[in-house]
Amino acid sequence: MIAKETVDKILEAARIEEVVGDFVDLKKRGTSLIGLCPFHDEKTPSFHVSVGKGIYKCFGCGKGGDSVRFIMDHEKYSYPEALKFLANKYRIEIEETEQSPEQQESDNRRENLYIISSRASKFFQETMWETEGGKTIGLGYFRERGFRDDILKKFELGYSPESWDALIQKVVSEGFKENALEETGLAIRNDKGKLYDRFRGRVMFPIHNFTGRIIGFGGRTLKTDKAVPKYVNSPESEIYHKSNVLYGLFFAKKAIRDLDNCFLVEGYADVLSVHQAGIENVVASSGTSLTTEQVRLIGRFTKNITILYDGDAAGIKASLRGLDMILEEGLNVRVVLFPDGHDPDSYVHQIGSSAFKTYIEKNQKDFILFKTSILLKEAGNDPIKKAGVIHEVVDSIAKIPDNIKASVFIRECSSLMQMEERILITELNKLRLGKYRKDAKPDAPEPLPPPVETDLEPAARDSDNAQEREIVRLLLNYGHELVHWDGITDTYIAPYVISNLADVTFDDPVCKAVIDEYSRVMELGELPSVQDFITSPDPKVSELAITLVSSPYVLSENWYVKRKIYVRNETENMRATILGGIFHLKKRKVERILHSIRDEIQQETDADNQAILMQRYLRVKEVEKGISAYLGSVVIK
Ligand code: UTP
Ligand code: MN
Repeated sequence: MIAKETVDKILEAARIEEVVGDFVDLKKRGTSLIGLCPFHDEKTPSFHVSVGKGIYKCFGCGKGGDSVRFIMDHEKYSYPEALKFLANKYRIEIEETEQSPEQQESDNRRENLYIISSRASKFFQETMWETEGGKTIGLGYFRERGFRDDILKKFELGYSPESWDALIQKVVSEGFKENALEETGLAIRNDKGKLYDRFRGRVMFPIHNFTGRIIGFGGRTLKTDKAVPKYVNSPESEIYHKSNVLYGLFFAKKAIRDLDNCFLVEGYADVLSVHQAGIENVVASSGTSLTTEQVRLIGRFTKNITILYDGDAAGIKASLRGLDMILEEGLNVRVVLFPDGHDPDSYVHQIGSSAFKTYIEKNQKDFILFKTSILLKEAGNDPIKKAGVIHEVVDSIAKIPDNIKASVFIRECSSLMQMEERILITELNKLRLGKYRKDAKPDAPEPLPPPVETDLEPAARDSDNAQEREIVRLLLNYGHELVHWDGITDTYIAPYVISNLADVTFDDPVCKAVIDEYSRVMELGELPSVQDFITSPDPKVSELAITLVSSPYVLSENWYVKRKIYVRNETENMRATILGGIFHLKKRKVERILHSIRDEIQQETDADNQAILMQRYLRVKEVEKGISAYLGSVVIK
């Protein structure tokens, strides 16, 4: 941990106007400084910095905080990362506390590995720019491929001499330890105990972590001999964990955030070429298949990924499945396909930067729709294959955590497949329930039947479960939508429903739990998110939520069909849907009260008491009539 005194020193030194000023052009206005907000797109400045208070606040998007918060938000750093960034800016030495001697030693060792990697990179660069061999072979190679010097310098590319120990000799003579070289994998010890350089006669691509420190290398051979591996890469080390590194991220992150999109390519060369073409928001997964950590890393900067594919049909089909993982992380995925035989690097060199940009603009497709059309084309008119396509596509859609987004895809894919929406919804339901069963603990209760099978005819059941569930379903699916009905505006559906049901007690404990949570959160002035219910620690709540949100239309169709009322879907008449839900529940509750009063009357022997009960019965009956009339006139129209 960073010592309290160090934190204080940093906070004292880090003047808000200087920290923000490095990233935002600030102008004086009255007592504060203002500029264009770096966190959202705007043309007139609403981003204020108060020097006196040491804080910033954007009146456009609401972001605000102190210097550390600014660096965390802007650079997507964690708290300690932001402190270290500021300490570096103000040349404050960081003192750490509560470190065990082991921890300290491990930190020193890691620091050593960073230093030696950076030293090695300098050596490879010097070799390329300054030695005869480096210039003709290494630099010559890059230039021949069309890379500009400024790109070579920016990415710190270099060349490793054709020698068994040039790097070792160099850095050991400067006092670096052999075992540090070994730990980074820059040197390897053979069976006889002799140390030799891993990278020999290769052009060198240093790999930076997202704060810009060098953590490893990829070295490309210049030989065409197939027996020589094209790339030699640094092994995993204490500072290089391949699964959470993206090549180029350090140079791309600003552009990724500004453009709110990240291009993903396959190789080092692709990153360089695309970057050189002026598209700087580009990273590579470097040969390995994309990991969840890498996707989360991108997710710190943007929720949009565009994959630039090599145009090889077999390869594309094979990778379709892997991409579901990106959906699962809640990111939006688009893909761009290049003509056969081209990768982004070769294509941009062939057609030039501006045509390349246009090509991407014109050819990017949403991943799910792309996948659907590829699979559809393949299935042709074969009905069995076509059924397989539905399954495959809905499988991807089921991965999307945002339910609203998922239902948009259901709609679009159903029209693409010329297939009824409800077929896809049923499939989606099955998948979600299946996943729920798999995830649930073995002793978890059997899930409730999906809503398709729920009997909605009130009289057929002796509980109010169906009506209560209908209310929960409406809340989960539409609670966040605004009411636009005559006389009622500016309120969301959730508070409208809850306040209209204040006098109703929910009998079903799971429904009650959901309703109570709505009331609780709304009292705090917020709306609960559907996701919170879906991921609820209470498996019953979670399952109810999953069941109810994954079937936005199926249930209601029943509802209307049973009453012989034809609407295409319930959102067409939202008012009827919502009021229908509320008043059917109220009616149901009132009916049950009537029922119990009737029982009481029958059991009552005293005539006076019977008369009193009868009075009550009639009063409640009036209420019921009112509700029925209301339902008849307003809702079911
Ligand atoms: P490519 O073969 O597409 O490499 O592999 P490239 O970067 O486009 O190289 P050029 O254009 O032939 O110069 C894509 C990525 O896979 C990894 C590297 O990270 C490479 O950039 N790779 C490839 C290896 O790690 N080892 C290999 O032998 C080949
Ligand atoms: Mn290539």
